[in-house]
Amino acid sequence: MPDTQRTVSTGKQILSKQPSTRLGYRHLAAVTLVGTYVVMLLGAYTSAIGAGLSCPDWPTCYGTWVPFLQPDIVANSPYSALQIFAEWAHRGLAMIVGFLILGTAIAAWRTHRDSPLVVWSATLAIVLLPIQVLLGGLTVTRDLQPFIVTTHLGVATLILLGLTITTVVAWIRAQN
Ligand code: HEM
Repeated sequence: MPDTQRTVSTGKQILSKQPSTRLGYRHLAAVTLVGTYVVMLLGAYTSAIGAGLSCPDWPTCYGTWVPFLQPDIVANSPYSALQIFAEWAHRGLAMIVGFLILGTAIAAWRTHRDSPLVVWSATLAIVLLPIQVLLGGLTVTRDLQPFIVTTHLGVATLILLGLTITTVVAWIRAQN
């Protein structure tokens, strides 16, 4: 059943299709796409303010998940609170977005099997995600090695491309 509502008028039966306002797969895909874009922007900001190593370890930051709970960590760091926050937030948001990408891929297989474009573009994103997380970790542990930083950007772009296809096709299908 397409994602539409049918309205029937009295007398002559007129069927008109209107896009449903119900929350559906296309909304999940759109939120995931926008979230991924925000993670990328935050990553670029982190890089631009020289904060790539402001959390010097990985996956924790100064050996803790929330460094701001221990004020001496921030006070004794050679990096500013803003720099530490940018890198920490980039990681944290990436984790949330990671779950969204997982949900988008699982839901694609459950609800859009008849659309290879939706299924395979969402699958591309979820397959690339662990590689991207690993590259993010290596970005830190290998001291911002240019090849790793560049590959981290390249894989992010491919994930965004996959999610863009997922979202656009899901919205087009909902109109039909
Ligand atoms: C969905 C997952 C992620 C996406 C889409 C993503 C994307 C990006 C992007 C686009 C940049 C900017 C690259 C540049 O301007 O050259 C960046 C920077 C960065 N990312 Fe990620 N990232 C993700 C996850 C992670 C994770 C899990 C870590 C873990 C440490 C991480 C660590 C970093 C670091 C340290 C930088 C700054 C690199 C520098 O200073 O040049 N990223 N990320």
